[in-house]
Amino acid sequence: MKNQIESLQKEIDDFRINDNQTLEKYRIEFLSKNGKVQKLFDDFKSVSIDQKREIGQKLNLLKTVSENKYNESKEAIIKTTSNIGIEVPDFSLPEIPNEDGTIHPLSQVLEKIIKIFSGIGYDLSDGPEIEDDWHNFTALNFPPNHPAREMQDSFFINKNPDILLRTHTSNAQVRIMESGKMPIRIISPGRVYRNEVISARAHCLFHQVEGLYINKNVSFKELKDTIYYFVKAMFGDNTKVRFRPSFFPFTEPSAEVDISCLICHGKGCNVCKYSGWVEIMGCGMVDTQVLENCNINPNEFSGFAFGMGLERITMLHYQIKDLRLFFENDVRFLRQFQNQNI
Ligand code: PHE
Repeated sequence: MKNQIESLQKEIDDFRINDNQTLEKYRIEFLSKNGKVQKLFDDFKSVSIDQKREIGQKLNLLKTVSENKYNESKEAIIKTTSNIGIEVPDFSLPEIPNEDGTIHPLSQVLEKIIKIFSGIGYDLSDGPEIEDDWHNFTALNFPPNHPAREMQDSFFINKNPDILLRTHTSNAQVRIMESGKMPIRIISPGRVYRNEVISARAHCLFHQVEGLYINKNVSFKELKDTIYYFVKAMFGDNTKVRFRPSFFPFTEPSAEVDISCLICHGKGCNVCKYSGWVEIMGCGMVDTQVLENCNINPNEFSGFAFGMGLERITMLHYQIKDLRLFFENDVRFLRQFQNQNI
C-alpha cells in the first residue's frame, strides 16, 4: 500500500496541467469518485489494524496535496486567461482620494436668501420651467412684438401654441395671483433659460429669485423698506442701496436696485467699473393691467414684485469672476465653499 501511495504521488507530481482541458483530465484521473486517490481510500479498508494509522496519514496527505495542486493550477489558469487583452491594474499607484461633497455655493446663497425672506413672512412658491405664452409673457403685459418672444432670445419647445422654457421666474407671480388667495407674500426661486452665448457674464441657464407681495394698500415705501432690509441682512449693515428708475412690462413704476460695491466700498474698482455701485435686482409696483389679467381688482389690491439673479448675488458675495464656474462641477472650485457659514 505504501508503494502504491508513493507511486501515485509521483504520478500526480509529474502530471502537467497547462490549460482547462488538462486540468479537467487531472480532476477526473485523480480526484473524481472513480479517480485514483479514491481508489486507494477504498483499498484502505483492507489495511491491517497496526498499519492503519501510518497509512491513513500518508493517504490523507496525498489527498490534500493532490487537491491543492488542482486548486492552485485552476487559479493560475484563470489569472492568465482573464489577463489577456486587459490592462493589469498597478496596485502601487496612490489611491484616488474620496472627495467630500460640498453644498453648491448657489444653494448656500439661496438658502440664506430664503432664510432672510421667510424671517419676514414670505412663503416659497414656484412655477413650471416649461411654460406657456400666457404665464411667461402675455399675462405679464409683454407686447406681442417684444424681442423676448423671438426664437433668438428664448428657447421655444413649440410654436403656436407657444410653449417655452421660462425666461424668468415671474411666471410664478402669475400662477399664484391667479390662485386668488389674498394676501400673497412669496418668493419663488428657480431655473430660467435664455438663448445667450455662454461667456463669463452670461449663460443659457441661470437662477432667479422672484418676490411678490400683494395686499390692500401696499406702497412703494414698503417695497423700498423690504429691499433695504434684504440688502443689509444679505450683504451687511454698511451696504448702501440706491434705486434707479427703470422699465419692466409688468411693473409700474419700476426700478433697478444698486448696492455699494462690496469690493471697493464705493471707491471704484474694476468689479463696479469704477462707478462704486453694482446692480443686484429689478423691482416695481405690479402693473394694474397685470393684476387685472390675474383677476385681481386693482382698486382693492396693490403690490410689488422684485427679481434678482442668484448667480449675480453669489458672484458678488464671493467675488467670483466667471459665471461658467457654477456649472462645471470642478471640485477645485467647489471645495472652496466647504464649511462656509454664510
Ligand atoms: N423678471 C425680471 C427679469 O427677469 C426681474 C423683475 C422681477 C423685475 C420682478 C421686476 C419685478 O429681469
